[in-house]
Formats: sequence, structure tokens, C-alpha cells
Amino acid sequence: MMTRAAGCELYYEASGQGPPLMFVHGFPLSGRMWQPTVERISAAYRCIVPDLRGHGRSSATPTADMARYADDLAAVLDAVGERRPVVLVGLSMGGYIAFEFFRRHRQRVSALVLADTRAGADTQEARTKREETAQAVEKGGSRVVADAMIDKLFAPGAAPSLRSEWHEIMSRTQPMGVAAALRAMAARPDSTPTLSKIDCPVLIVVGEHDTITPPDVHRDMHAAITGSRLEVIPDAGHMMPVEQPDAFAEVLTRFLTGLK
Ligand code: MLT
Repeated sequence: MMTRAAGCELYYEASGQGPPLMFVHGFPLSGRMWQPTVERISAAYRCIVPDLRGHGRSSATPTADMARYADDLAAVLDAVGERRPVVLVGLSMGGYIAFEFFRRHRQRVSALVLADTRAGADTQEARTKREETAQAVEKGGSRVVADAMIDKLFAPGAAPSLRSEWHEIMSRTQPMGVAAALRAMAARPDSTPTLSKIDCPVLIVVGEHDTITPPDVHRDMHAAITGSRLEVIPDAGHMMPVEQPDAFAEVLTRFLTGLK
């Protein structure tokens, strides 16, 4: 399904019935990363899965920022007629957007799942690197990013077929969308001050071998968010929901059951 928001055609899928969840993918991935989770939980939950602007089957715009991505999520909720507050699940860049969504659309959030992400903003060095990468992608295409990221995404034991599948998906992401996301991440606000203000149930979950957003970063978020739950998934890296779909779905379901 498609809806339009601020100059962009946004692709989304909605399936299942029950309390609503919205799943936000990481960079430069797509909603497809949530397919194994949706398959496991949609008998009991309504699962809403957008492709962020510039990713997957959504169209790209030359610029974006965390506020735009967050408002796009609200537009998708409107498009599917979801008026109830949702459990917002964000992985990595999806987590950066989840913080922004929480700040802008608090009344639409019933709980947060922060997966393989971080609250802090980029360092100046990281910003410079992102700009260099954005320019390289504009010149040479998204394969530049796919090649640079593929070895960091997965735990050492991940199946080669998973690596090739996701290398292909990242390579196909529109260069304009990749460059816009890199600049949006570089400019994102520091969400650390938000942590102590989060007043809904929070699950923090990370792959044991995640090197992009390591477990220690999640322990710090757990310490800063009152009442949050922390889970570390064994034998998984940054792509934890596709690497260990059963373990992730189980941890998520346990959290969701506790909300009822
Ligand atoms: C992601 O997985 O969304 C990105 O690796 C996050 C980042 O580059 O900060």
C-alpha cells in the first residue's frame, strides 16, 4: 500500500489483528527486515511496517531529517486508520526516529522497543565521515555503503545467504535516499536528555555481537530509562531480528504480554 506525505510516496504493509505495533527499520535497509517478526506475531498483533522515505519501495526526496521521518510515520498511521497508541519498535536509525516520534507524537505511543540503537548524537568526526560517504554514494551509488557496512551488520556465525540478501537490498536502496539519510543522521539531535522523560514501558534489546551499537550503549540507556527492560540476544549482531528471529519474537512477545 502507498500513501503520500510531504512530497513522498510512502510504502507500507499492515497485517494481523490485535494491539498495534509499528516497526521502523534501520539504514539503509527496508521494512522487509521485520518480515520474520511479523510472521511470528501477527496472529495476535496488528503489525504496521513502513519503508522510510528513500528506502525500500518508498520514493526518495533530496533531503530529510528525523522530524520528517517521524511525521511520515504519523502519516502512515493515519493512512491505515490507526488511532490507538502503538508500540513503536525502532532498530538503529529506526530508534533515532522513535525518539523523535516520542517527542513529537507522544500521545500516539503506548510503549517503545529500542533495538540495536543509541540515544547519543554523532561526534564531529562521525558527521564528517557521513558527509564523505553521502558524496561517495551520490557519485558511485549505494553499493559503496553496502560494501562498507555488510561485515559490520552480522554476528560472525551468520549465514552467508543472509549477508548476500542484505548486501543486495542495501545496494538497491536509492542513492538519493541513502545520502539524505546519512545527512539526517549526522544532524540528528542528542536524545540522551529524552531518556529520563520517557514515561511509557520500554524494552531495550540488542544482539550480543552488535559492533555498530554495542551492548554497553544499551546498558547505559537501560540505566537512564526508569523501569526499562534490557535483553541481550545471543549469537546475533546488529541485524538481530533477521539473525535470531525466534529469540527476538519471543523477547518481544514476553514484553507485549506484560503490557496487557
Ligand atoms: C543503522 O543501522 O540504522 C545505522 O547503522 C545507524 C548509524 O549509522 O548510525
